[in-house]
Amino acid sequence: MSSSEDLVLSVKGLTTNFYTYEGIVKALDSVELSLRRGDTMGIVGETGCGKSVTAKCILRLIEPPGRIDGGQILFSDRDPKTGETNEIDILQLAPEEMLTIRGNKIAIVFQDPATYPNPVFRIGAQIAEVVSLHQDLGREVLEIRIRELEDSVKNSSSAEHQAKVREQIEHYVSMLENPPKPDKKYARKAAWAKAVDMLRLVRMPSPEQVANQYPHELSGGMRQRALIAMALACNPSILICDEATTALDVTVQAQVLNLLNELKKDIGASIMIITHDLGVVAETCNWVMVMYAGTTVESTSTKELFEHPVHPYTIGLITAIPKLHENKERLDQIQGTVPNLINPPTGCRFHPRCAFATEICSRERPSLEEVRPGHYVACHNPQGNV
Ligand SMILES: Nc1ncnc2c1ncn2[C@@H]1O[C@H](COP(=O)(O)OP(=O)(O)OP(=O)(O)O)[C@@H](O)[C@H]1O
Ligand code: SF4
Ligand SMILES: [Mg+2]
Repeated sequence: MSSSEDLVLSVKGLTTNFYTYEGIVKALDSVELSLRRGDTMGIVGETGCGKSVTAKCILRLIEPPGRIDGGQILFSDRDPKTGETNEIDILQLAPEEMLTIRGNKIAIVFQDPATYPNPVFRIGAQIAEVVSLHQDLGREVLEIRIRELEDSVKNSSSAEHQAKVREQIEHYVSMLENPPKPDKKYARKAAWAKAVDMLRLVRMPSPEQVANQYPHELSGGMRQRALIAMALACNPSILICDEATTALDVTVQAQVLNLLNELKKDIGASIMIITHDLGVVAETCNWVMVMYAGTTVESTSTKELFEHPVHPYTIGLITAIPKLHENKERLDQIQGTVPNLINPPTGCRFHPRCAFATEICSRERPSLEEVRPGHYVACHNPQGNV
């Protein structure tokens, strides 16, 4: 993707290995990824192709025996007030600097809410804690105090008291432009009110009631919404949703993805959806990156990908999507098995399974090239109309 585009995240040559007793698992080999501000991007590929490892690298959550051995992860942070952008390489940050990014500028929701949120605290308290850590509540506190004083004016019959309180209200109103740091007692109230607002934002039924409930009292879908509310409470620039293979039933998953789509306008964050389902991508993402065995094989707009798939692996994936009313005995599947990443195939990692492979494919690794406008593919023999 050209550098002139407004990218919030740009991953270049990301290479990550796991140093296990069985050997070195070459999990990511020069992964390339670009996320534009405001886009919803899907990362799609079979199980084990490196989707979660990519997300973990972006958040610097790779732990031994894993190690990021190369590449850059450029995050372009934009100040909402001044509009100025500041580009940083996440891989160069000190661990304590990373705390200002992780769960703050970049938030992740793992779609396996079985053990998370924390089972022993009320939902509202958990979201309120995140709110207090990440949001400046000065304005909200003033607003709460103003509302309380207005009630007191209404409930008072003394003209003298009313005049005094009105004066106080005016004073608080004049402070709204530049609110001071909130005091503790009111900050807690404001954070709770904000937590209920966040639950409302994620279309939680009865948000006031849910805020007072514990995670085990909610359904899987509601817990998922609570997790998204918690992630959004940080005001992130990027929200990553890592859909684990089987955690959610299909209906809940569809609800969550629809919700994210609806929220997009309200939250102003760029979204990354990790999935092994191209159908999900078609419905929710405007950009897609296809991964195969730890490499980026194709990256383009969703429309372009479905209309003009170029990489043989992507073509296989699209053909394998079951079509409505199709009465096939067996679905089309890509021949062969997912490679072992300790000894991955040489050259193009897809070559043992590829119907279009030629001699060069096992010898040379194809680089990611723009084969059509805005359409990037790593293949020696690109297919279709290129
Ligand atoms: N802690 C680890 N130790 C060794 N290998 C690992 C470790 N974590 C991940 N890997 C390997 O890295 C590769 C990529 O794994 P990753 O979890 O990113 O796959 P994925 O695309 O998210 O798959 P899924 O769709 O099943 O979630 C796999 O081969 C996996 O075995
Ligand atoms: S580079 Fe060769 S083996 Fe790899 S996808 Fe293209 S044609 Fe197939
Ligand atoms: Mg995964």
